[in-house]
Amino acid sequence: MKTIIKKKTTISDKDNLILLCDKKSKLSDFNLSKQELDYIKLEWEDKKEIVAINQYGRHIFLVLPKKEKDNNQHAENCRLLGDRLAGKLKDDKSVLIIDVKENQTEAMQIAEGMALSNYTFTKHKTEGTANKLTTIYLCKNSNKKNIEELQNIVDAVYFTRDLINEPFSHLTAKDLAEAAVKSGKANKFKTTVFNKKKIESLKMGGLLAVNKGSIDEPTFTIMEWKPKNAKNKQPIILIGKGIVYDTGGLSLKPTANSMDLMKTDMGGAGTVIGAMQAISANNLPIHVIALTPATDNRPSGNAYAPGDVITMHDGTTVEVLNTDAEGRLVLADALSFAKKYKPELVIDLATLTGAAVAAIGHYGIVSMHEGAEKEHARLKETGGHTHERLAEMPFWSDYDGLIKSDIADIKNLGGPHAGAITAGKFLAHFADYPWIHLDIAGPSYTKAKYGYRGKGATGMGVRLLYQFIKNRA
Ligand code: BES
Ligand code: MN
Ligand code: ZN
Repeated sequence: MKTIIKKKTTISDKDNLILLCDKKSKLSDFNLSKQELDYIKLEWEDKKEIVAINQYGRHIFLVLPKKEKDNNQHAENCRLLGDRLAGKLKDDKSVLIIDVKENQTEAMQIAEGMALSNYTFTKHKTEGTANKLTTIYLCKNSNKKNIEELQNIVDAVYFTRDLINEPFSHLTAKDLAEAAVKSGKANKFKTTVFNKKKIESLKMGGLLAVNKGSIDEPTFTIMEWKPKNAKNKQPIILIGKGIVYDTGGLSLKPTANSMDLMKTDMGGAGTVIGAMQAISANNLPIHVIALTPATDNRPSGNAYAPGDVITMHDGTTVEVLNTDAEGRLVLADALSFAKKYKPELVIDLATLTGAAVAAIGHYGIVSMHEGAEKEHARLKETGGHTHERLAEMPFWSDYDGLIKSDIADIKNLGGPHAGAITAGKFLAHFADYPWIHLDIAGPSYTKAKYGYRGKGATGMGVRLLYQFIKNRA
């Protein structure tokens, strides 16, 4: 299901309305009765941000966003107002947002929150339970280009959420690659999918080791958006962890609960594919490449085993001490593959560690970086705007020793502490360019509703990457 965002220049007395107001707004245009106006006044004195007027055949919501000193928090509040309004309108087919106070920025933020909130994943329900709300109209003051841009962003977030919510039974590594190809065709970015044979010829030992226990073949997908008017000489590369299911492998996760959500372990890949869709659909003038190594991680007679030594794409030897630390192995091959593009910046996204979840929960993204001080500062600033915020971990060289192996170059396991950081240190070994690592294990999925991000896959990261790339243009 899609939520349509559209401009509408007429108002009828059947339209559900959201009137974006301030206290001085004149409401005489809207045929409200004296009683209704008195009620609104009382509610405003009571500092209500949303006042509901139920009329025969339609709803009117007066929205008066509270003043907020911080711009980012104000934007987030407007999106959250959109979320609350979406909840009230889910049984209606459409709504028209009118910015009586003439503030298009706020109107768009409310629309954004509403549209993102209106997502449901009902594909596997035999009886439809999707919200009835299909269309959000913006009034005649709105800017058509901004609306189109928002539509493409919302579509991309929905797409990412669909991918992450989709269970392993319906999304293998091959299916994930095909989803990228399909989006590429529709949005004009180029895609190349490597199959197992090609991956073998490239000696991607990390991806192949994780795949050994699987009955399905791995994939390695390359997406490229290279517009003629690209402002950058060297590409920006996005890498996403594509573990379509993580059992832990022979280092099997305890069955009680810990595997229930492991269909979401391709969250990094899903986010990166969605970001590519948003970037290309909106024609951003930046050369971007995305790489998504994908496989499931399962135990079997042929599965890789704790204690194994494997040779990675770049020749590094790795002692595998825990087959559940598989994400870093598939990412490492993508990171070294990325070197051949001489990228100006690489950002990887991964549902990489439980330690990242333990550190900050699902409220933000755990970040680390090397050689990308300025880029990281910019990304962090963008995260403030989109409320997809970065929490930076220390990345001191003191941690380097924790991944040294007795018998190979490095091992895929750190010590008992600082698990998110030692995972990052493992990745850093394979990067020789400005690089940012985003551990999204916490925010990519929530069990309880988290504002307009909903319940289930949130799509967190898509808007962050999109705005970051846009800001470079
Ligand atoms: N996919 C998991 C991380 C994860 C945990 C994602 C919880 C989402 C929610 C990852 O592959 C993993 O198993 N990490 C291990 C690493 C450990 C064995 C070093 C972890 O964090 O426990
Ligand atoms: Mn794992
Ligand atoms: Zn994993």
